[in-house]
Amino acid sequence: MDSNDFADRLTASRIWRSVFRHGWSGSPLDRSLATTSNVFFHLHPVKVDRRSLRWSYTFGLGIISAILFLVLLFTGALLMFYYVPSVERAYPAMKEIQLSVPLGQFTRNMHRWAAHLMVLTVVLHMARVFYTGAYKPPREFNWVVGVFLLLLTLALSFTGYLTPWDQLAYWAITVGTNIAGYIPLLGTALKQALIGGVEVGQSSLIRFYTLHVAVLPAIMSLLIAVHLWRVRKDGGLAANERVEEE
Ligand code: HEM
Repeated sequence: MDSNDFADRLTASRIWRSVFRHGWSGSPLDRSLATTSNVFFHLHPVKVDRRSLRWSYTFGLGIISAILFLVLLFTGALLMFYYVPSVERAYPAMKEIQLSVPLGQFTRNMHRWAAHLMVLTVVLHMARVFYTGAYKPPREFNWVVGVFLLLLTLALSFTGYLTPWDQLAYWAITVGTNIAGYIPLLGTALKQALIGGVEVGQSSLIRFYTLHVAVLPAIMSLLIAVHLWRVRKDGGLAANERVEEE
């Protein structure tokens, strides 16, 4: 090995060790340091009972929802390279994505299917949390954060629905915002604020688009961070306490 090789290896090993600071083997202290010094692993509490990690306790529904959200951010960003939020150009842009953009149809389908799936996994995750009684103190605040996450998931689905600007989208948004208009006192103002006027048109498209690609994903990202941080601060999953009681 010449001196250049040696220097390269030394640099590579320094970079490796600056990211992964502790090995797996060795003492319990080593293992706990490996966990707490890693941004992903440190979401777990320092001590986790093996039984609380059972697949059948959570079915991974929370983490699957979070992964689907990442898939949606990634595929959504790709779609934004081609989509144009204008009433004349939205539908042709969407057709172009499907018919002539390389992997366009695949990307659009990924985005749609991930969105449908996320609604399903978030609702199932909520049902699982309820079934295991994990909404009780000290997790009541995280339950409330979760309720907002559910509402945001639904709001993202609803705002995304208008973007293709086809007949289905147009009438779904017309009906949806008309329903919002029946809310006592606030209804009319809310409807007009959503569609940007008295009937669905260009200003509705730009409003729904901005909510869909910027405002709602930003709030969602922040709330998911708070949600996961709360799971950690509440002592990990509720199963941990039940195991201690047994
Ligand atoms: C975008 C939507 C959501 C994401 C990404 C998410 C993510 C997660 C993750 C990763 C966990 C850790 C355990 C697990 O995987 O089950 C968790 C736990 C929890 N989630 Fe969610 N969640 C979401 C929506 C909700 C909703 C709608 C509720 C309830 C209204 C909720 C309430 C809770 C509670 C109370 C816990 C603690 C559970 C326990 O200690 O057993 N979450 N969430």
